[in-house]
Amino acid sequence: MSNLHDCAQRYGLVTRLLHWGMAIVLGWQFVTVLAHVLLEDSVLDKFAWGTHKATGLLLMVLVVIRLLWAFYNRNRRPAAVSIPARLGHLALYALLFVIPFVALLRQYGSGREFVAFGMTVMPGFDGKIEWMIAPAGLLHGNLGWLLLFMVIGHAAMAFVHRRQGGEDVLARMIGR
Ligand code: HEM
Ligand code: HEM
Repeated sequence: MSNLHDCAQRYGLVTRLLHWGMAIVLGWQFVTVLAHVLLEDSVLDKFAWGTHKATGLLLMVLVVIRLLWAFYNRNRRPAAVSIPARLGHLALYALLFVIPFVALLRQYGSGREFVAFGMTVMPGFDGKIEWMIAPAGLLHGNLGWLLLFMVIGHAAMAFVHRRQGGEDVLARMIGR
């Protein structure tokens, strides 16, 4: 089996690129929200918050690719170290999907034009669609903060589990 695919001993190149690439982009996404909340109206806030929607759109695209890739590799991935670890990863995936999805739904429902990376992603229209706006009002920010805490816990657990059962989980995601 080529290096690109996953196998029982380690994650393959594509999974590793998606994992660490998304970790960097999501890291930036949290810089945008932390600056917005903690350093309101600072230069960093003005610049970073201006990239929040486009970064979120990029994460939406990446998570769909990642979910398809995970499904395609589902029978040849390293086994999770425990049921909580498995459930934790599923929860991370669910949040990574739901958070940008409800935000994009709200963006569409608002009727406002949405331009990202120089492309008109949504042309906008007159009026509003309330049922598209409501879920994000309820969930987007709250689940976003939950994701931040879960990611911190996830990274901490990666170090805690380094040698459980003689298996170094960090090594199989780093590729050594
Ligand atoms: C994985 C991707 C995303 C994450 C982790 C994320 C995270 C967050 C968080 C934590 C907040 C709350 C900030 C606060 O408490 O003031 C927030 C707010 C916001 N986000 Fe996102 N976001 C993502 C994607 C998007 C996308 C794709 C859009 C729009 C296209 C978007 C638009 C907004 C808007 C308009 C707000 C302010 C209103 C609100 O709090 O709901 N976000 N985001
Ligand atoms: C920043 C956002 C992050 C997210 C959303 C995330 C998400 C995930 C997910 C969903 C998995 C399951 C495998 C997969 O499908 O890719 C995973 C595996 C893993 N992650 Fe992360 N991760 C993040 C950051 C980190 C960081 C910072 C570290 C380490 C310092 C880390 C270490 C690992 C390790 C070691 C595995 C493999 C676990 C195993 O084989 O059981 N992750 N991650």
